[in-house]
Amino acid sequence: MRSIIFASNNENKVEEIKKILKGRYNVISLKDAGINIDIPEPYDTLEENAFEKSRTIYALSGKDCFSEDTGLEVMALNNEPGVKSARYAANDPVFKSNTAKLLHALIPIENRQAQFRTVISLMLQGTEYQFEGICKGFISRFEKGILGFGYDPLFIPEGSDKTFGEMKMDEKNKFSHRKKATAKLAAFLNDHYGKD
Ligand code: IMP
Repeated sequence: MRSIIFASNNENKVEEIKKILKGRYNVISLKDAGINIDIPEPYDTLEENAFEKSRTIYALSGKDCFSEDTGLEVMALNNEPGVKSARYAANDPVFKSNTAKLLHALIPIENRQAQFRTVISLMLQGTEYQFEGICKGFISRFEKGILGFGYDPLFIPEGSDKTFGEMKMDEKNKFSHRKKATAKLAAFLNDHYGKD
């Protein structure tokens, strides 16, 4: 099976993506690759931050790799927190204070529409390719469920009445932004390697 580095230190994301690509690609996390680096996310777009991560790890390892950046875009808040989702409440990321801040910001607002957007940046033999995955849904009026991470207890995907926080990973992956972007990545890799 082919191996590919996933340039992330987020164990939740690594677990999700390993599960999605299981049996097709051997996903190697930064930890598994012995790369101990906290890659900055200095830009104002998911696209630029994802590219920053993949190009940094490609430069370090010389190996094909991919990264992703995800944001929660809330329509009534002009797509905030968006690219700043991890550091919405404070510079030091804490999931609980981010969800509390979001609930507070939405108290006077009727429109709860939101979407998770994931951008994957793939570095293949020095060339970059990007893949996007979007999951539309709504922000719940209070936190529900303890599964997942980040904003999962607040996000109800379209087509469900449960939050991601109430779903096991397999169920979340039926809807998820990361699943959609990763499916595009997998199709691209299959096509690319098929031509080797
Ligand atoms: P980043 O892509 O690591 O910058 O993630 C940004 C932030 O978005 C994370 O810290 C989480 O708070 C949130 N986030 C990203 N993906 C998800 C998800 O699948 N569910 C819930 N929150 C997420």
